[in-house]
Amino acid sequence: MPSYRKPWAEPYKIKVVEPLKVTTREYREQKMKEAGYNTFLLRSEDVYIDLLTDSGTSAMSDYQWAGMMLGDEAYAGSRNFYYLEANTRKYYGYKYLVPTHQGRAAEHLISRNLIKQGDYVPGNMYFTTTRLHQELAGGKFVDVIIDEAHEPQNQHPFKGNVDLQKFEDLIKKVGASKIPYISVAGTVNMAGGQPQSMGNMRQVRELANKHGIKVILDATRAVENAYFIKEREKGYSNKSIEEILLEYCSYTDGCTMSGKKDLLVNIGGFIAVNDESLFDELRNMVVVYEGLHTYGGLAGRDMEAMARGMEECVSYDHIRSRVEQVGYFGQKLIDAGVPIVEPAGGHAIFLDAKKFYEHIPQEELPAQALAADLYIESGVRAMERGVVSAGRNPETGENYHPKLELVRLTFPRRVYTQAHLDVAAYSVEELYENRKKAKGLKFVYEPKYLRFFQARFERVS
Ligand code: F0G
Repeated sequence: MPSYRKPWAEPYKIKVVEPLKVTTREYREQKMKEAGYNTFLLRSEDVYIDLLTDSGTSAMSDYQWAGMMLGDEAYAGSRNFYYLEANTRKYYGYKYLVPTHQGRAAEHLISRNLIKQGDYVPGNMYFTTTRLHQELAGGKFVDVIIDEAHEPQNQHPFKGNVDLQKFEDLIKKVGASKIPYISVAGTVNMAGGQPQSMGNMRQVRELANKHGIKVILDATRAVENAYFIKEREKGYSNKSIEEILLEYCSYTDGCTMSGKKDLLVNIGGFIAVNDESLFDELRNMVVVYEGLHTYGGLAGRDMEAMARGMEECVSYDHIRSRVEQVGYFGQKLIDAGVPIVEPAGGHAIFLDAKKFYEHIPQEELPAQALAADLYIESGVRAMERGVVSAGRNPETGENYHPKLELVRLTFPRRVYTQAHLDVAAYSVEELYENRKKAKGLKFVYEPKYLRFFQARFERVS
């Protein structure tokens, strides 16, 4: 027996490669300055290891690429649509499907359909685009996630859980008629990719039923959530990912989906619901904003790739490797004493910028500065998930001050090897050792919506 633990390896081999460009520190410093210290404004060709997002950045399989050739590009009734519809029923269990070009388009349609001016939408922490569409439709988002989710080092195994007391308090306060639905995500992106338990989802359903409130799932990373349920929740270790996913969705009335994550495609999304009259409304509205209801802004080939991605992403070997790769990276940082959100999330590791850059106050945007510095020092691209991402309260104009001030290193699926992860972890550790030298940032340009994407900054003197 060898003296070391049995290693694991990625459950795929590489057929096509895309060369990476290695740059100098001086070059990157210049590029970061030109990009206004916003990693979203860098050119991808100037990035070495790109951990900006797992959205649309995954590697498709040969099976998916083969499917692209079977695109039926008919305007109406493409066969790829019917295949996607059948697979959505099979894997997620919903009756009706409305394709959209990506997740936020699905959020737009569901929000416009269900929310009235003055309504409240509770949810297990906000997501940027989800909350914005709820607000644009006239709703007010209310965070009802458990308190543990806001504590970076809290080891709760299901930090994505809804706090049922908070949900019930809101119902008492504003009345169920003002709450069209509860918006539940598994996993919870902004909490650090943290899962929700099956037991919690079941209880959410029961409480919502009592008051005639719908449950709408953000299913973007529900397969990753299913993996955590299998690993951590009593009674699920012998169930398949497919079974867990179906049960999880069965407690909800419908979902919005960004296929660019779990579903292993570069573009695509959908809404799926069980209620026929809601489906009718959505199917009518999609024609106005996306395209006919059998393509919703997608090419036939994109729907085919997404339908095939659904089949691949529920494979245990796939999802285990995906989530454990993230865990491997997280453990390296924990071992080196770097402050991160624990436990490791499903899609990303989040650096705790408040602790990392202890000397930079939140008004000087420590997470934004940390993401910029990481790029300058190593060519690794990450993103801010703190006060910049949180934006402003539309009523008061004040900045939201989230408790979590984080930098997200997000892992595209099937793209980087363990060696890339080692290099990225080393870069973070090196930055941590030199953290005292860091300086904060201030806004010089702030767009009105989703400001983190396009804002520009400069160093505070
Ligand atoms: N919901 C969640 C939980 C998401 O993470 C995203 C996107 C969306 C909805 C919106 O989907 O991008 O297809 O319109 N998240 C990306 C990210 C942008 O980097 O986390 P989309």
